[in-house]
Amino acid sequence: MAEVIIVDSAETAGRLVSDHIAEHLQITPEFVLGVATGSTPVPVYRALAQRKAREVDFSAAFAFALDEYVGLPEGHPQSYRAVIDREVTQPLGFDPTRVNVPDGRAEGIETAGERYEAALRASGGVNLQLLGIGTTGHIGFNEPGSSFGSLTRVKTLTEQTRADNARFFESLDEVPIHCVTQGLGTILRAHHLVLLAFGRGKAEAVAGAVEGPVTASMPGSAIQLHSHVTVVVDEAAASRLKHADYYRWAQEHKPAWQGL
Ligand code: F6R
Repeated sequence: MAEVIIVDSAETAGRLVSDHIAEHLQITPEFVLGVATGSTPVPVYRALAQRKAREVDFSAAFAFALDEYVGLPEGHPQSYRAVIDREVTQPLGFDPTRVNVPDGRAEGIETAGERYEAALRASGGVNLQLLGIGTTGHIGFNEPGSSFGSLTRVKTLTEQTRADNARFFESLDEVPIHCVTQGLGTILRAHHLVLLAFGRGKAEAVAGAVEGPVTASMPGSAIQLHSHVTVVVDEAAASRLKHADYYRWAQEHKPAWQGL
C-alpha cells in the first residue's frame, strides 16, 4: 500500500517533498528526477528553487518529463518542453542538455515513444517520479483503458482532459488532441513514485487510485502495484479516502528513521 500523507496545504506538501529530494541530491548528485507538468508539482518546484542557492545543486542531475503534446509549434509556451524549461530547468539550474521531454513534433512521431524509452533506459532509470493525477484518473497522460504494461507512446486525450487543460490555452480548440506519454509500465519502473493532489476536484481520482480496485479504468490505481509510493494530498483531495483516519494515525506513529 502507498504511504498517504495528508497535509494542511500545497505549500506544506511542496516543502516536504523538496526536503526529501534535496537530501537525496546531496548523496547522489546525478539524481534522475521524473518531472510532471500542470499545476500540481509547482509547489515542489517553488520550494526547491527557494533553497537552491543554499543547498541544492541540480547541475549534475537529470530530468525526464512524463509527457508532451503532439503537434504544437516549436517554442509554443504551453508545450511541455517550454513549461519544463520555465518551471524546472531554469529556476532549479539543471543543465539543459540533461533535461529530457518526449519529442512531440509531428515529423517522426511514430518513433518518439521508442526514442524516449531508449533515453530512459540509458539514464539508468528514474530515481523519483513526481506525479499529478487528472480528474479522469490519468497519471502521465494514460487515460482510462491504458494498459498497465504500456510504454511511452502516442495517446489520444479524453475530452475531459482537454477541457481541464484548456485553462492554459486561449481556447479549447487550441488544446492538442494527441500526446506522447510515458506508459504506466514506464512509470512503474521508477524507484519511488510521489503522487501529489490538491483540491476537492481531485478527491474521487485520489480515492480511486489509492483505495479503489486496481483497474485500467482508473489508471492511477497502477500505483498500488509499486513497492515504494508516497501520496501527498491536502484535506480536500483526501476527503473521499475511506481510511483517512488510519493514514493520519500511521503518520503520527511513524518511526523517525523511515523518511519518505
Ligand atoms: C502532467 C501530467 C498529468 C497531470 C494531471 C494533473 O505532466 O502528466 O498527469 O499531472 O493532468 O494536472 P494538474 O496538476 O494541472 O491538475
